[in-house]
Amino acid sequence: MTSRPLAHNSTSKWLHWSVGTIAIIMLVFGSGLDSLPIDQRQQIIMGHSGLGTLVLLLMVIRWRWRLKNLPPGPTSNMKRWQILASNWMHWSLYSLLLAQPIFGILQAMYITEYEIVAFGLINYSDLATDNQAKAQIFHILHGVNATVLSILVLIHIFAAFYHHLIQKDDVLRRMLPLGKVRKNDIS
Ligand code: HEM
Repeated sequence: MTSRPLAHNSTSKWLHWSVGTIAIIMLVFGSGLDSLPIDQRQQIIMGHSGLGTLVLLLMVIRWRWRLKNLPPGPTSNMKRWQILASNWMHWSLYSLLLAQPIFGILQAMYITEYEIVAFGLINYSDLATDNQAKAQIFHILHGVNATVLSILVLIHIFAAFYHHLIQKDDVLRRMLPLGKVRKNDIS
């Protein structure tokens, strides 16, 4: 059996906190975008699409990294349903965080109202012919995926604090940059 580490390695911690921070900022400030005037929207989307592209890049790296580097195992106090729920949660977050920028890029390629140039560098509008119907489909998928992602992120944060404050185990500590973990807290 492959032995599990006691804590996440520093690359996993960097990937976790950078993707988490950018994704939460984008989920919070993404909603309400479509009520802004077109010129303001175009300016904001220039940054939004650039940061989203960065999330896609980091998620591809993260997925590959996760397949090659086992995370720490469940802590000794975790029940079977908690272990199953946490596995399901982590793979769902990985999938939704990959799907979110992909739907965004597809929407950007087909959008008809304005041109989308990520960070002023990558012109997504040039990649396909404008198509209102396809843009609408990917707009809906991008919005629905964002809603489900927001709910799962909230549950994920709640679970981390539940482990730390109620179960008093090392689950949150082992993901913190300077977190200290106990050797006997793993099952
Ligand atoms: C993790 C990455 C991303 C997150 C969390 C995110 C989040 C959001 C959210 C919450 C909305 C509002 C949805 C709605 O209210 O219907 C939105 C809209 C949008 N996003 Fe993203 N997004 C991401 C990546 C991207 C990428 C990579 C692109 C394009 C390259 C993109 C392009 C857009 C566009 C064009 C809109 C609609 C703006 C409009 O209504 O005119 N997004 N995004």
